[in-house]
Amino acid sequence: MRVVVLTGAGISAESGVPTFRDAGGLWEGHRVEDVATPEAFHRDPATVQRFYDDRRRAVASVEPNAAHLALARLEASLGDDLLVVTQNIDDLHERAGSERVVHMHGRLDSALCESCGERSPVVGDLGDRPACPACGRAALRPDVVWFGELPYELDRIDLALAACDRFVAVGTSGAVHPAAGFVLTAAGFGAVTLEINLVESEVSLLFDEVRLGLASMLVPAWVDEVLAAA
Ligand code: APR
Repeated sequence: MRVVVLTGAGISAESGVPTFRDAGGLWEGHRVEDVATPEAFHRDPATVQRFYDDRRRAVASVEPNAAHLALARLEASLGDDLLVVTQNIDDLHERAGSERVVHMHGRLDSALCESCGERSPVVGDLGDRPACPACGRAALRPDVVWFGELPYELDRIDLALAACDRFVAVGTSGAVHPAAGFVLTAAGFGAVTLEINLVESEVSLLFDEVRLGLASMLVPAWVDEVLAAA
C-alpha cells in the first residue's frame, strides 16, 4: 500500500511548537504573514532573521511527540511506499527517525545564500550575518518558503499523490495552497483520504473520513491499524 502523509503545524503542537493560526498567528506583535515574506526580509532583515533564530532555538529545546514517532515506525515498515510531506520547517520528523520527508516550505536548519544560491546547514544565528561557506559573502537567509515564493519539490509531491492509495493529512488547517488541494489530487487518482485534526479544517468536507482529536493519540492508532492490515 502506498501512502502519502501531509503534516502541518498541528503535529508539532503537542511538542510545544506554536501553530500559526491557533495562537492567533502572532509573534512579538507581528502577524506572521508580515514577517514571513521576501518584502519584510528586504525591508528589515534583522527582524526577520531574529524571528527565525528565535524559532530555531525554540525547536531545538523541544522533542518529537508520539505522532512523529508513529510516522517513523510506519516508514520502518513501509519504506519507500511512505512519503511524509510536511509544511513544517522544524526537524521533529527527522529527530523522530523519519528519513523520507519532503519539507515543501523549507526548513529552519538550512540557510540559503542570496548571492550564490548554495544551501548550507545553519550554524548559530543567521542574525549574526555569518559568511556563506560556499562563496564567503554575508548573504545567508533562512531556507524557508515565504508567502509569494514557490514551495519546494512540487513535482515529486505530485507524482507521489498520483501514485498513492492512501492520503492522510495531519494537523493542518487547509488555509494555505497548494497543500490544501493535495487531498483533491490524491482522490482524483483514486486514493482513500483521511484527515486527522483537533477540529474540522477548511477542507474537512473533501476527505472520505475525518478523525477529530489529538495527533499524539490518533496518529499512533491509525499507524497501528495500517500495520495490522499490512
Ligand atoms: N492535534 C491535531 N491537530 C492539531 C493539534 C493537535 N494537538 N493542535 C492543533 N491542531 C490543528 C489545528 O486544528 C489546525 O487545523 O493544526 C492546524 C494548525 O493550522 P495552522 O496553524 O494553519 O498550521 P498549518 O496548517 O501547518 O499552516 C500551513 O501556513 O503560515 C503558513 O507556511 C505556514 O506551513 C504553514 C502553512
